[in-house]
Amino acid sequence: MRKLTTVLTIALMAVSMTLCAQNAKKGKVLVAYFSASGNTEAAAKKIQEAAGADLYKIEPEKPYTKEDLDFRNRQARSVVEMGNPAFREKLGGKPVDIKKYDVIYLGFPIWANRAPSIILSFLESQDFKGKTIIPFATSGSSPIDNSVNQLKAAYPNLTFKEGKRMNNATDADIKAFVGK
Ligand SMILES: Cc1cc2nc3c(=O)[nH]c(=O)nc-3n(C[C@H](O)[C@H](O)[C@H](O)COP(=O)(O)O)c2cc1C
Repeated sequence: MRKLTTVLTIALMAVSMTLCAQNAKKGKVLVAYFSASGNTEAAAKKIQEAAGADLYKIEPEKPYTKEDLDFRNRQARSVVEMGNPAFREKLGGKPVDIKKYDVIYLGFPIWANRAPSIILSFLESQDFKGKTIIPFATSGSSPIDNSVNQLKAAYPNLTFKEGKRMNNATDADIKAFVGK
């Protein structure tokens, strides 16, 4: 009987230690994304699930309308904003405490072959030094390289890993990306 109790106690301890380890891992990884029309959001949710991470939506103070996103119109808000590299979109939404995380998957739609200005606002809103930032994006056709190079050049003190364009990403693609 005593033997059985000991075995059960050890088994219980092992289970609770595993659960604790899983929770600790969960607390350290964040998927933070901006998505104006839902494509990047869909990828972000898959990455969050595969990584067992927390999810955070980066939001502008003033939401983008359909007209704002008409990139064929030179007067459209998004086009005007991206035409000025010094512009910083005002952040809205709920705040998030970056201090809690070690790894941040950072998602965005590619705008004018770069990360939207709200991503720069987000990176400048808190201290990301020492964090591993893993970019991902969706786009009409542009690869992610230029956007990642832009971020590396703008923030040489931050650590950006190789990014990945997530259009039509399969579950296997997501698993491989998260497993890296
Ligand atoms: C202002 C603006 C600029 C864009 N510029 C590009 C671009 O340079 N290259 C590209 O392939 N797609 C471009 N797109 C298309 C978006 O990257 C693409 O539709 C993306 O999947 C949208 O993601 P979302 O639904 O998460 O907002 C642009 C879209 C907008 C609104």
